[in-house]
Amino acid sequence: MEVSIKNLTKSYSNKLVLDIDQLTMEKGKITGIIGPNGSGKSTLLNIVAGLDKEFLGIVEYDKQLITREIYKEMTLVTQKPYLFRRKVYENIEYPLKVRKVKKAEMKRKVKDIIERFEIGELKDKKANLLSGGESQKVSLARALVFEPRLLLLDEPTSNIDPESIKIMEREILKFNREIKGTVLIVTHNIEQSKRLCDNIVYLEEGKVGF
Ligand SMILES: Nc1ncnc2c1ncn2[C@@H]1O[C@H](COP(=O)(O)OP(=O)(O)OP(=O)(O)O)[C@@H](O)[C@H]1O
Ligand SMILES: [Mg+2]
Repeated sequence: MEVSIKNLTKSYSNKLVLDIDQLTMEKGKITGIIGPNGSGKSTLLNIVAGLDKEFLGIVEYDKQLITREIYKEMTLVTQKPYLFRRKVYENIEYPLKVRKVKKAEMKRKVKDIIERFEIGELKDKKANLLSGGESQKVSLARALVFEPRLLLLDEPTSNIDPESIKIMEREILKFNREIKGTVLIVTHNIEQSKRLCDNIVYLEEGKVGF
């Protein structure tokens, strides 16, 4: 879905950390968000994800303000992903469970995504015992399994080995091309943004630059 931002400002105590007059992220495209540490990238993603409501301005999704339905159609993979202290496959099936997907279909989807991510050997492991990179991989699999309309990724491959980066990038592209899912991805990796992104937004001190 299209994400459109108007007159967005966000402050922590007295410090203005986001100040965006107008920004539209196109439907069905992969938009990269780049910029130095502390420039407001994660803050912006949290606001778009509907998790941070303490801001001024307007964020619209396909020209509509956020609703419960819209909220259910998007997901954020954070820099330090949060997984339940359950088995990996239980974590991955969770978004399907809460959306009341039928058992057989749920099983098929979970199996399919585990195969595509090549994480079969992790599926019975307790998620709290995973390494940082393994957690990031499982979190992306959990985000993609329910085919959201909007996928928000905050440095999803920052701890990942080159082979796994290839798999994750392949799956992000596949999601975008096949399901026409919209993606916003924060990355410090310029090469990655060239490989994945249709458009790039540059943030500096909370402002959009070009
Ligand atoms: N909970 C908070 N309380 C106060 N200040 C915060 C809080 N979270 C973030 N900030 C400040 O807001 C600014 C933007 O932070 P943000 O995490 O969005 O940056 P970022 O662009 O994601 O950086 P990085 O590349 O390091 O992840 C920073 O100056 C940061 O110190
Ligand atoms: Mg950040």
